[in-house]
Amino acid sequence: MNQNQRLKGQSAMITGANSGIGKAIALEMAKEGARVVINYITDEDAVQSMIEEIKSFGGTAVAIEADVSQEDQVKAMFIQMIKSFGTIDILVNNAGIQKDSAFIDMSLQEWQLVLNVNLTGQFLCAREATIEFLRRGPVPERSSALGKIICMSSVHQTIPWAGHVNYATSKGGVSMLMKSMAQELGKHKIRVNSIAPGAIKTPINRSAWGTPEAEAKLLELIPYNRVGEPLDIAKAAVWLASDDSDYVHGSTLFIDGGMTLYPGFSTNG
Ligand code: BGC
Repeated sequence: MNQNQRLKGQSAMITGANSGIGKAIALEMAKEGARVVINYITDEDAVQSMIEEIKSFGGTAVAIEADVSQEDQVKAMFIQMIKSFGTIDILVNNAGIQKDSAFIDMSLQEWQLVLNVNLTGQFLCAREATIEFLRRGPVPERSSALGKIICMSSVHQTIPWAGHVNYATSKGGVSMLMKSMAQELGKHKIRVNSIAPGAIKTPINRSAWGTPEAEAKLLELIPYNRVGEPLDIAKAAVWLASDDSDYVHGSTLFIDGGMTLYPGFSTNG
């Protein structure tokens, strides 16, 4: 457990929390005193060992299996969370996938799958969370906000990405979903923000950093000259979920070692 317990007494749902960035966020939020829902669709063993780890430092976690792109499963997941923890204070819309393909080879199924998980999944979870925030009403001793929603975007909400048009389009959509929700929900004191990670060492992009040659090539895109770690994102997510960031609303926090600084222009143009 971390000392100052910035999320004490709060309940957080992290989607796609069985690995990578989602896993790091779930562990870090639990260390800050939040009770966490670990949403997953695969890798039950990994999820069980996360629960053990969280218990070992005195935290509380439950695992809920649900495909975020399926409305009935999302609704059932929220019912189960509310049964377990009573409510939700923090939603981390993290679940996301890549199905990469050259544009002319991309099947409609690959296009739809990525849009369904990465964009529709965020809409479905954010809507259920919002319904619960409004039903429950404010709890000022827990947080100044009625609820917090953090959307996991990507540098590719801004940087076009050949060979990944489905993924880049989904993240462009997340950017506008987040901002439109923030505009609409701010009056209820629901705080909505995004994190846009750059290259972070997770299973989704192992081919880009898994060998020294691949990593060296990737570093050409990162002015700060290191590939990110899941904890780089998890620490920011804790801050964005806590009252320390209470006036941050409708923002995207880029955590990318400078990937969005157009490093190609440092020696060209
Ligand atoms: C993608 C990774 C990629 C990174 C930077 C992320 O959103 O999921 O595969 O390495 O962006 O390009």
